[in-house]
Amino acid sequence: MVTINAIRKPIETELEEFDAFVRRNFSADEGLVAEMLEYVLSSRGKGIRPIVVMLSAAMNSDRDGRFGKRSYLAAMLVEMIHVASLIHDDVIDESDMRRGRASVNARWQSSNAVVIGDYILARNMDIGLSSGQYDIVSHVIKSIATLCEGELIQNDHATKLDTSRDTYFDIIHKKTASLLGVSASVGALSVGAAHDRIAAMRKFGEAVGMAFQIRDDILDYTCSAATGKPSNNDLRERKITLPLIEVLERVGEGRRREIIDALGRCSHDEASIEFITRAVGEYDGIALAQQTMKSYLQMALAVLYEYPDSPYREALMNLCAYVAERER
Ligand code: FPP
Ligand code: MG
Repeated sequence: MVTINAIRKPIETELEEFDAFVRRNFSADEGLVAEMLEYVLSSRGKGIRPIVVMLSAAMNSDRDGRFGKRSYLAAMLVEMIHVASLIHDDVIDESDMRRGRASVNARWQSSNAVVIGDYILARNMDIGLSSGQYDIVSHVIKSIATLCEGELIQNDHATKLDTSRDTYFDIIHKKTASLLGVSASVGALSVGAAHDRIAAMRKFGEAVGMAFQIRDDILDYTCSAATGKPSNNDLRERKITLPLIEVLERVGEGRRREIIDALGRCSHDEASIEFITRAVGEYDGIALAQQTMKSYLQMALAVLYEYPDSPYREALMNLCAYVAERER
């Protein structure tokens, strides 16, 4: 079983410096802003995106794996967009918990959570523009609109209970894969890699991101306290994800109708949740979704094989294994 520490290993020192760099940039002297920023930064999670930015920077560097301030800046811009998006996401989903702790909205109310999310995005933009590294800022900033599109498409289809396979892939590409694609490609851009390398790294990151979100959606069915989120959250939010899509594509019209009707009741009825999870079990929805996830990881690995062996490439390969196996 690959651990996140094994993936971090070749850039361990840099990641520690990165934490300090983020704290220097996102602090306030006192009051509510200071308190909220401290809370948000101390529960940042695994930091997959900055790890991807930095490993990509190291793997694409022609200075023996070394990279400089541009890469740190890129990692911070990406990570703080991600942080802001989760704060807003918990408001939209009315979710009380994130990573085993109270969500920002649960602790400070939705009104304050919305504003601190905006504040983080605004401050991010200010730091980016003040740095003068316009290529990095413009590469990263586009992803905000993509995340918003993903969220809106998801909400629209959750209301209509009609998420198809194509719609699902479009949603997860926009809400998760796009930012991981940006993470991997901006890492390469930050060390001056050639255009074809930047494009290859985007392909790598997007494939990892698709796999990552599919695994997340699987964990929502299978899990457990380990994720720090309540289980079957997606059903409660009327989200049709890949394990259920696999089932809907296999059942007859009558059963399909029953499942969709049950989905409409999931927000307030445990029996409906159980009805759907039983159908997912019966039709092997989890195993089928896992197969699709693996095919994305194969695409990601194919990009890595274009690179010579290095500790950074190995760490990114380990990341692929980690995504497939992770339980949280
Ligand atoms: C988590 O998904 C949510 C996202 C990956 C993106 C959310 C995007 C927005 C709210 C748009 C606004 C964007 C910005 C930058 C302010 P999930 O709900 O499937 O995962 P979860 O179970 O962890 O909540
Ligand atoms: Mg959510």
